[in-house]
Amino acid sequence: MPESLTGLKRTDYCGTLRAKDCGREVTVCGWVQRQRDLGQLIFIDLRDRTGIVQLAFGDKTDREIFQKAFTARAEFVLAARGTVRERSAKNTDLPTGEIEIDVAELRVLAKSETPPFAVEEKTDVKEDTRLKYRYLDLRRPDMQKKIIGRHRIVKAARDYFDDNGFLEIETPDLIKSTPEGARDYLVPSRMFPGSFFALPQSPQLYKQLLMLSGFDRYMQVARCFRDEDLRADRQPEFTQIDFEMSFVSQDDVMGIAEGFIKDVYKKVLDVEIPTPLRRMTWHEAMNRFGSDKPDLRFGMELHDLSEELKNTQFRVFSGALASGGSVRGINLKGQADALSRKEIDKLGEWIKAYGAKGLAWTRLASGKETSSYEKFLAPEEAAEIRRALGAETGDVLFLVADGKDKVVFESLGALRKELASRFDLIDKTKPCLLWVTDFPLFEYSEEEGRFVAMHHPFTMPREEDLDKLESDPGSVLAIAYDMVLNGNEVGGGSVRINRPEIQRRMFQALGFTPEQAQERFGFLIDAFRYGAPPHAGMAFGLDRLVMLMLGCDSIRDVIAFPKVASSAELMSNAPTEVDPKQLEELGVSILPKK
Ligand code: AMO
Ligand code: AMP
Repeated sequence: MPESLTGLKRTDYCGTLRAKDCGREVTVCGWVQRQRDLGQLIFIDLRDRTGIVQLAFGDKTDREIFQKAFTARAEFVLAARGTVRERSAKNTDLPTGEIEIDVAELRVLAKSETPPFAVEEKTDVKEDTRLKYRYLDLRRPDMQKKIIGRHRIVKAARDYFDDNGFLEIETPDLIKSTPEGARDYLVPSRMFPGSFFALPQSPQLYKQLLMLSGFDRYMQVARCFRDEDLRADRQPEFTQIDFEMSFVSQDDVMGIAEGFIKDVYKKVLDVEIPTPLRRMTWHEAMNRFGSDKPDLRFGMELHDLSEELKNTQFRVFSGALASGGSVRGINLKGQADALSRKEIDKLGEWIKAYGAKGLAWTRLASGKETSSYEKFLAPEEAAEIRRALGAETGDVLFLVADGKDKVVFESLGALRKELASRFDLIDKTKPCLLWVTDFPLFEYSEEEGRFVAMHHPFTMPREEDLDKLESDPGSVLAIAYDMVLNGNEVGGGSVRINRPEIQRRMFQALGFTPEQAQERFGFLIDAFRYGAPPHAGMAFGLDRLVMLMLGCDSIRDVIAFPKVASSAELMSNAPTEVDPKQLEELGVSILPKK
């Protein structure tokens, strides 16, 4: 029978006791990390979220208590009252290693079955098992540190924005479906059978309406829902540190965002971030790094070789150039001997996942130069490519040609990152932050056969590009900006359209008829007729920020109860089928499974 806590009151957390506490009578509560039975002596390591303290039971201990200590097993929940005393054998690895508690009273508050895995700092248990028993996994000090770190980051965010005059205002989670970007999660309405709410992909529209309402500086730690394919840095529900400001320019928003990053790094990690952050246009980021979230912690920049190859007879290259694309290359310095022919061939297959049709290469191993394409080029062309890439003995050159620049950028950009991580070229000593600015306003969606908004449909085009909105939408740049941390997009935002006329033209460029625009975004369009201040804002991806600040590889590590790649939650097995009665009430019927 588990005992009750009645009459005992915790005085201290386990991990906080030190030599200065010797002689104090304390009561601690926690879980058994391990029990050691030395015959005459029993030691129990008791763990709570602050750490571990040793409970000691010896020949002077009451026999009934000694017996209880004898039966205690891993993960039993105990309360112990006793006196702090100096240990005879000190443990310098443990912050509480100089002391122990000589126990006078012990209660077993709960027993535990043998857990499916040991609750230990480091574990090699499969992630699926950890997620199935997440409540146990979260007991591990490593996970506790991350969840506590996340709390500190959120707290620093709220304090920073409060100090700067922002109001935290909640926006609804049941909203109208206005998909543009990811797929919406839908919630059927019981009161209006056949109608649905959507869960918000972000508080975007509502925070803009709050600017119209005069709240001027808004922030929210906001839950967002997106039904998209998951990766290590994406979850179907995630959290944003979202903010919006009135009567400001792009620079004001960037200033506030930089101030936050500086503040949170200082407070949580005691790291100085020099500001203002470096800025790079989207165009430069793509050309030099093949990515709109470039990782600048290593070089290996892309080079455009189209000029050098403009007269080439090699069909792979000339074909790409003739279709309006490009040939670009990177130089992996000094690794020719470390990268075998077989591995190069594997990379040629690997890169196809990024859309490239092939990978051309030259390997300059000392005494043995080999190339997949030089034999097809005129000697001076091959030499010019080497020159353009700064090739020296020991280097490996990689080239991608495609009729679409986008494919060349994406595949070479991905290869650049892959090689850097494989050959350990990344300087991980300090965080690397920058802004990427001047994004295109639209990108062309082959799938939908129309332009779609790169950021969202409320993003303001640059003033100087306004007259190209109809004639050349693909060339219009947006007043939009992303913050990039170690090659990850940690935040993004834009200046918003506050002039109804521009908004109307924007919807038109996106292919909406005025009726369609009114039907989808009518409430916003109407609101803008009643005095919309100029406004701009941004949202940080909190999970990504925490992941990167705490040096984790996956955002699942910094979310208490995350979902896996299939969007399922392994502990509760959600999503699950529901009772037919529930469906009937909602007026929903399920199609037979295909
Ligand atoms: P955006 O869509 O760029 O902008 O989102 C802002 C930031 O949120 C993070 N993020 C995600 N994190 C985890 N899982 C996901 N599935 C996921 N999707 C996005 C990223 C991203 O930079 N309303 C606008 C912001 C604005 O304009 O003010 C918005 O949502 O770190
Ligand atoms: P092939 O003539 O098809 O044997 O190609 C010669 C070399 O060019 C091989 O190394 C191919 O991998 C490479 N290659 C093929 N298509 C491309 C491409 N789109 N970009 C870069 N290299 C390519």
